[in-house]
Amino acid sequence: MSYFNDWAMRVMRLADPETAHRLAVKALALGLAPTLPPPPRILATQGFGRELTSPLGVAAGLDKGGEAIAPLLRMGASFIEIGAVTPKPQPGNPKPRLFRLTKDQAVINRFGFNSEGHAVVAERLRLFRRYSRLAGGVVGVNLGVNKDSTDPQGDYAAGVQAFAANADFVTVNVSSPNTAGLRDLQQEESLRAIVEAARDARDLANSRCSLMVKLAPDLSDAAAASLVEQLTKTGAVDGWIVSNTTIARPATLQSPGAREVGGLSGPPVFERSTDLVRLVWQASGGGFIVGAGGIDSGASAYAKIRAGASLLQLYTAMVYQGPQVIARVEAELADLLAAGGFASVQAAVAADHR
Ligand SMILES: Cc1cc2nc3c(=O)[nH]c(=O)nc-3n(C[C@H](O)[C@H](O)[C@H](O)COP(=O)(O)O)c2cc1C
Repeated sequence: MSYFNDWAMRVMRLADPETAHRLAVKALALGLAPTLPPPPRILATQGFGRELTSPLGVAAGLDKGGEAIAPLLRMGASFIEIGAVTPKPQPGNPKPRLFRLTKDQAVINRFGFNSEGHAVVAERLRLFRRYSRLAGGVVGVNLGVNKDSTDPQGDYAAGVQAFAANADFVTVNVSSPNTAGLRDLQQEESLRAIVEAARDARDLANSRCSLMVKLAPDLSDAAAASLVEQLTKTGAVDGWIVSNTTIARPATLQSPGAREVGGLSGPPVFERSTDLVRLVWQASGGGFIVGAGGIDSGASAYAKIRAGASLLQLYTAMVYQGPQVIARVEAELADLLAAGGFASVQAAVAADHR
């Protein structure tokens, strides 16, 4: 294990998980991260209209403010989703709001969209594009709404306006469980209005950034299928991120923190989120899916791809395994693709459906 990974893991085990998280992001931002070799060539793929070195990116929530984009890219993530970002700055929920479920290798969070706001984060992304040696990296922005918002549609459109010039994709996040009423926006009529307003804002900005929608694993199969079928017909959604954290508490959980309120992530959400990838792939007629939820190994990454995900994201595995989990998952995935007789990631996408 490298010095950084060893160091990062010690930090991650500090008593207060939120402080540990802040320190880890700051350390990354300060450049205290190793530069890893590029991923195996078999992983080269495409997404968001870009060439990607691998299908594996970093999920929203880890770098909410866009402070560590370049270091995360240097460590082998082929793309990163910053945010969630809300229009105005807001503090989020009272602490504590981040809990490690160590026995389950899982996390529960109820941050509630703590954010520095569009203006600050958009400026950081602009500076990254202008001055970073990795300025060409693939970066998306996860969009949230303010707690006191009375116009969610306007909040998402404002987010698109703020970030469209410098983002490869923006995500309409209607699936975080920690903002009252947010997940109700997954109802068909609400989501249609939001997505159409977001698309109009993107077109007005003359941007080609992809418009993604991120779904909750707690949607019923019937609701998810109908939503995805109807929204696909509008032509306004470029892809789906499947999935966010869950409010469910599987009976298998062993950690004392399992009763905390919030969104559960890591291995306990793997199965449901992978089933939802399968369902969304079908309902969208083979649409573009970014799979997230419990990816912590090549095998879990490979399963998501076979279920229909073209790209992948992880977060919780980094809490337990350190940032070098990215390179490990990539190496294992490359081996599994080769062993499965696939010449590329794309060749394996949705293999389970054939
Ligand atoms: C501490 C924490 C904060 C998160 N914040 C966000 C967020 O702001 N927006 C969002 O869409 N998802 C957020 N997520 C969800 C992740 O992006 C991801 O969808 C989920 O954790 C499943 O992936 P994982 O099992 O690899 O962690 C957060 C997850 C965690 C653990």
